Formats: sequence, structure tokens, C-alpha cells
Amino acid sequence: MNDAPRFRVTLCADDGARVEFDAAPRQSLVKAAARAGYLITTGCLQGRCAICRATLLRGVVAPLRRAAPNMSAVHASDGEAVVRLCSVVAGSDLELAPFSPWRVAAAP
Ligand code: FES
Repeated sequence: MNDAPRFRVTLCADDGARVEFDAAPRQSLVKAAARAGYLITTGCLQGRCAICRATLLRGVVAPLRRAAPNMSAVHASDGEAVVRLCSVVAGSDLELAPFSPWRVAAAP
């Protein structure tokens, strides 16, 4: 049994749509969403293209890789915090507003 903490992530769209899923530590938010059946719009998946940007409305995120030395944890209270969902992990329960729409994965 895995006792690692999981955090609850809520995505909010401009039209009022909301979805929720769990994210494990060290799992990018793009991967956590995909595992729950929600496909976030992505490009490079390496933190460069910024297509997966989202405004952090509540909570704390941390960088996915140690290879991102310039990035430290980002808190929603930092103001208009914009994060790249492919490159961050949850540090708490989160509420985010992605810049691009997500879609529900097709059933297998
Ligand atoms: S997919 Fe390119 S920065 Fe996230």
C-alpha cells in the first residue's frame, strides 16, 4: 500500500466547468490529469513552450525536476502566479485555471 500523500487538484474553466482529480507527489499535473482521464493541452512537455500554462488560484506547487534550479515553490498568494502544468507537482491541494481547455479522454 502506498502511503504517500495525494493532493486534490481542481481545474476551473472560464465557462464555469470544473474537474477534480488526485495528484501524487513527484507526478506532473499533466500526468496526474491524464491518469484521471483529463487531457490538458500540451506541446513540448519540457516547460519551454508554455502552452500548458495555468493561473494558480489556490495552493502551492513545486518544480518537477531538480534541473530547474531557477524555479522554487510557487504559492497562489504570490499574486498572479502562472505555472506550467507539465513542469510542476502539487505541494498542497490546488485550484488552477488553465489558459487552454482540457478535454476528457476517449473511453478505451
Ligand atoms: S507542454 Fe510545453 S511548457 Fe508544458
